[in-house]
Amino acid sequence: MRVPLASSGLEPEDINAVIETLHSNALTMGERVRAFEKEMSRYLGAEHFVMVNSGSSANLAIIEALLRPTKGEPRLRPGDGILVPAIAWPTTIWPIIQLGLRPVFVDIDPETITIDLEAAEKVMRNSDFDIRGIFPIHPLGRAMDPAALQSFCEAHSLVLVSDVCEALGSWRGGIHAGMSSLAASFSFYFSHHITTMEGGGVATNDQAVADDLRSIRSHGWSRDRSDAKQWAETTNDINSRFLFVSTGYNIRPMEIQAALGLGQIKRIDDYINRRRYIATNVNNALKNSELRLMGSDTLIEDPKSHSWMLLPIRAKSPVAARKALEFLEQAGIETRPILTGNFTAQPSLQRILGTNLNPRDFVQADYVTATSFMVGCHHHFTEDQVAHLADSLCHASSF
Ligand SMILES: Cc1ncc(COP(=O)(O)O)c(C=O)c1O
Repeated sequence: MRVPLASSGLEPEDINAVIETLHSNALTMGERVRAFEKEMSRYLGAEHFVMVNSGSSANLAIIEALLRPTKGEPRLRPGDGILVPAIAWPTTIWPIIQLGLRPVFVDIDPETITIDLEAAEKVMRNSDFDIRGIFPIHPLGRAMDPAALQSFCEAHSLVLVSDVCEALGSWRGGIHAGMSSLAASFSFYFSHHITTMEGGGVATNDQAVADDLRSIRSHGWSRDRSDAKQWAETTNDINSRFLFVSTGYNIRPMEIQAALGLGQIKRIDDYINRRRYIATNVNNALKNSELRLMGSDTLIEDPKSHSWMLLPIRAKSPVAARKALEFLEQAGIETRPILTGNFTAQPSLQRILGTNLNPRDFVQADYVTATSFMVGCHHHFTEDQVAHLADSLCHASSF
């Protein structure tokens, strides 16, 4: 039996919704996207949700919006340092570099895999860069503490933006992960908690940021902004349908993606409960084992704070991890590193930041990379797959 890292996530009614959408001739961004954005805002408790074509685009659009707002002072400027975790996803980091800012890497907490705020405190004291922001990831479904993030940002006057691409459906203290930030990115890639095949979006409570995101996702035009009328009145000689008020990309979602999202978001509680059930089963199977489910503390202490995108597993040593991985792959259990592993060691980043970035400075990121790995936790796994996953992990620990 195979237990993949993910399944397609589509239900028969989702496929019907796509076919209906195609027959309706509604292809490019329109009423379904607007309806999905409304549902996402309601679910997250956010004032605004701006859908785009991927989580990566959401991260790009956030940085663009803060660098070049249409009104007011930019919240970030070229050259600013942005704190980021050493275990990261590439497209959390690339927009920072691509738009002329500087990622300042911070080691992670080895238990939660989140950016370590104590290590960040030291970086703030010792860094040569003008650090103006922090872009934490809420990894694998685990929500960071919003109060801790906020007080860190207040103490250092930092702009807080969050990458929540892996943590839809996780809440702490009644606040959805990332929602204490100025803007938070989400992904609906097929392996995630809900899927639009490819897709993503940004949640924000800031009207000006939301307006700029709506322009940025669509060439820079004014059409979808709340202040589109005012812009049209101040520029009478330009056709208001072709009035460009900001920089932009074309990172729009399609109607078929929103049609999928509208069905999927209705089922999110069931999906996340199923993921918690899988995590609980695996955790129980590992009770007397040498392998450990990272984040299992939340299952008892605060189940809502973890939505389990994948299951991070910790072995007692790098050798034990390698042996477990060999056994699991042979048993049909697909595995992968924790995100990218220590991202500072990746050749792409080394080529850019080179001598200024020594991967071995990130001791905890190296430790997690060497001792830990991930297996799937998809809500569509069958009972047999869940049992096979739990059994195989239990056996893998005896090597
Ligand atoms: C932390 C994080 N950020 C950003 C992304 C990018 O999302 P997408 O694949 O939708 O571009 C991912 C992808 O899974 C991710 O894990």
